Amino acid sequence: MFNEMFPVFHNSTQGLNDPDLAAMATFLLGDQPPAAKVQTDVPLDKLSTSAQRGRQDYLNVCAGCHAVGGEGKPHIAVAMRGNTTLRLEDPRNLVRVIDEGIGEQKFAGFENMQPMPGLAEKLSHEQLPDLVDYLRQGWGGRSGDLAVKDVQTLRADAPPLEHKAH
Ligand code: HEC
Repeated sequence: MFNEMFPVFHNSTQGLNDPDLAAMATFLLGDQPPAAKVQTDVPLDKLSTSAQRGRQDYLNVCAGCHAVGGEGKPHIAVAMRGNTTLRLEDPRNLVRVIDEGIGEQKFAGFENMQPMPGLAEKLSHEQLPDLVDYLRQGWGGRSGDLAVKDVQTLRADAPPLEHKAH
């Protein structure tokens, strides 16, 4: 999770017991939820050409914090592998996180999560769709390329963030 969900997790949901968790899942998904989808990494040669180009941008701009294999780094940054933001059908949140970053999170007991910088200036209009395809196909369990112009439209239309990363 990120943003407003951090305090929710930290102060509340991490303490749920199994029956309460199950009850909440039933409330949200109904009595017959879809089967859980296990996410495995997709090898490079199974990715689209766009996604393969995007890997280069990932290595250049993101891997320093999120790690080459997407496993994240303790006390530095969360994992990309299996990350919910990559799995969503709508790429809007992913595009905005990349462009605008996320503010620092403060927890009880002097724990914190450092901010993620906004990286809009490091990724051209051609690079961003490639990168988003790489993340979604490689670790998000989604297939197919997004339309380049749709990603560019999302980028252009993004309203200002309520909680800026700086
Ligand atoms: C300087 C380190 C740093 C770099 C570089 C960086 N990130 Fe992050 N990223 C973070 C941190 C730290 C968080 C968690 C921030 C928070 O939630 O407060 C994060 C969070 C995210 C999230 C949200 C994860 C979630 O749980 O939903 C995504 C998606 C993401 N980063 C993608 C990227 C991509 C793609 C790049 C490269 C374009 C990138 N990041 C570059 C540090 C970094």
